Amino acid sequence: MPAIEALLSGGDYILGEAVSDFEAGLADYLGVEHCVGVNSGTDALILTLEALGVGPGYEVVTVVNSFHASALAIARVGAKPVFVDCRPEDFLMDLDQLEAAISARTRAVILVHLFGRAADVTRAARICAEAGIALVEDCAQAIGARWDGKRVGSVSAAGCWSFAPSKNLAAAGDAGAVSTSYREIAERLGLLRHFGQRVQNEHSVKGHNSRLDSIQALVLRHKLGRLEAWNERRVALAGEYQERLAGLPLGFQDPGGPGGHVYHLFQVRTESSEVRDALLSHLLGDGIDAVVRYPFPLHQQPALPHRPAVGAFPVAEALARETLALPIRPDLAPSELQYVCDSMATFFK
Ligand SMILES: Cc1ncc(COP(=O)(O)O)c(C=O)c1O
Repeated sequence: MPAIEALLSGGDYILGEAVSDFEAGLADYLGVEHCVGVNSGTDALILTLEALGVGPGYEVVTVVNSFHASALAIARVGAKPVFVDCRPEDFLMDLDQLEAAISARTRAVILVHLFGRAADVTRAARICAEAGIALVEDCAQAIGARWDGKRVGSVSAAGCWSFAPSKNLAAAGDAGAVSTSYREIAERLGLLRHFGQRVQNEHSVKGHNSRLDSIQALVLRHKLGRLEAWNERRVALAGEYQERLAGLPLGFQDPGGPGGHVYHLFQVRTESSEVRDALLSHLLGDGIDAVVRYPFPLHQQPALPHRPAVGAFPVAEALARETLALPIRPDLAPSELQYVCDSMATFFK
């Protein structure tokens, strides 16, 4: 890329024009006032919780069906992760259980738009507003998805983004960002990502070194303009899968309303853990890149404190045993998709 060559010879490596240009492009795409580029999606969550004043003595509620980082960030800032189960239809946080999980110590909720599917951010925001706590969105897997016509990451206190190489908008390495329309939150994040430094050698808060790398920002800016087309392709592929697999004993993640799913992953649910495990071996044996996301819900990860017992979240635990993800990427050829569907049909025959 000529822009990378120009950056390398120009030497504007840290928080220069490349980063602010991507931040402005992302803010425009999402329809928010500010985006702050950081080092990763995990740091986006950690810095956001810190910017919101979350720390020891507080609780943060999140959903037990997610990638580890959603809960790790809570534990990292010294707060207690409190979990709620997900729903069997859409695999997302069961908002009927959210209110009961909020206590006097709760400072925030992290809603996760898992596998590319937008969660009901409108209802979550209402519950949080009534409780007087902040809503944070973990948008790592769902760039471009919409709820009630609005992009995820645009209506809460903050949306946290990962651009790790597997994501729908992928950097060539680690990268992340936070989107917000609150100036104070954006300013605090700007300090936190850069050693807590407002001016050179004056460190007003205990910060991090977590800046979005300039080369990654150039890669992301370049790709941002293609994201809509890539997401449309993912949606079309998911439709093809659903059509061709319709006769098999499988369940699918509910796609939600218009624009509600951008299919970071295409999940299928089998009837039992035995079938899932056998199907996975069969697909892998046919050279198909099937994968289990995620084999353990968050409360079963030994790294986390305050873990509820196995059995506490029956829906997420069943999904962990019974689902697998089929290959989906914008450049998946029709013949590759057909090969996967044929292999599935052979398995169930
Ligand atoms: C739901 C979710 N949250 C957070 C993260 C963390 O992002 P990163 O890997 O950029 O730290 C990921 C990345 O896989 C994710 O899928």
